[in-house]
Amino acid sequence: MKQFIENLPKAELHLHIEGSFEPALMFEIAKRNKIEIPYKTVQEIEKAYQFDCLQDFLDIYYQGASVLINEQDFYDLTYSYLKKCAIQNVRHTEIMFDPQTHTDRGISFVTIINGISRACNDAEVNLGITSLLIMSYLRHLSEEDAFKTLEQSIPFKDKITAIGLDSSEKGNPPSKFKNVFEASVKEGYIPLAHAGEEGDADYIWEAIDILKIKRIDHGNNCLQDQTLVKEIIKRDIALTVCPLSNTALQVVDDLKDHPLKNMMELGLKVTINSDDPAYFGGQVNQNYIEIQKALNLSKNDLYLLAKNSFQYALIDEKTKQKYLNELEDYYNLNK
Ligand code: ADE
Ligand code: ZN
Repeated sequence: MKQFIENLPKAELHLHIEGSFEPALMFEIAKRNKIEIPYKTVQEIEKAYQFDCLQDFLDIYYQGASVLINEQDFYDLTYSYLKKCAIQNVRHTEIMFDPQTHTDRGISFVTIINGISRACNDAEVNLGITSLLIMSYLRHLSEEDAFKTLEQSIPFKDKITAIGLDSSEKGNPPSKFKNVFEASVKEGYIPLAHAGEEGDADYIWEAIDILKIKRIDHGNNCLQDQTLVKEIIKRDIALTVCPLSNTALQVVDDLKDHPLKNMMELGLKVTINSDDPAYFGGQVNQNYIEIQKALNLSKNDLYLLAKNSFQYALIDEKTKQKYLNELEDYYNLNK
């Protein structure tokens, strides 16, 4: 199974680039930027990465991102993640970035976007991986603040495919961002959002009805409401599920209790993703490996999960078909 997963062609649809920041690279970049970080060793970092809930994690995640200053830092961070994609047979990835985490510290939008997108272009040429970018608004900040980010992004519209909504979910419902999502869609961005990770099913209703999102990040709590489950299936909206994130943030107590298999059986379109791999103990393949073991998933289940990852990617039909054919060939030879 491990080998089947490692060689399985797949896409990753839920990945925060700031959450891919491995301790070794963090030390290196902090050093060259002459920034003090509160850890001296990888062991100290690992000790700090024990989370009780989403907010607990976010505090440490924003602190880690604060050593990113120059365009080259954003390039190195992104290219380092893309190299890991190549090793894992991730053929396509949709990368979220949080501009406000950086612009609020005085880093310019152009520095962030140029570093990240140059790495994506190089990875396509050197590693054969396709990628696109999702600009995420931080939901603990105001809608007015998100509007400023939208404005800053306009000159770089050709480098950004979609918008997302992340950070502290509870107390920051999707409806708070109704106007900025409408304005973003008018600019041509595809709307996506985190919903139902810690927030209840009503937040998912708001995300699909008010923000009109095309994909739900996490979405675990849709299972609280069977009418919602039916509606998500009817509208053909996929869920980007992140098993190791869910256990690390105590959204799920144990992988054995993870609802992924149940979601699939209900007819929900589910994908497997790493969310913040440097913080949650595993890249995307590790997520596949551990959830397969915990839920005793079959090769057919894994094939369907990988198929969804291409099916619900925000790519053109021709590229999608190319990847689906590659997956089909792989499955026929290895099932
Ligand atoms: N930002 C990075 N990871 C996140 C997550 N799992 N939920 C919300 N915001 C995030
Ligand atoms: Zn996320």
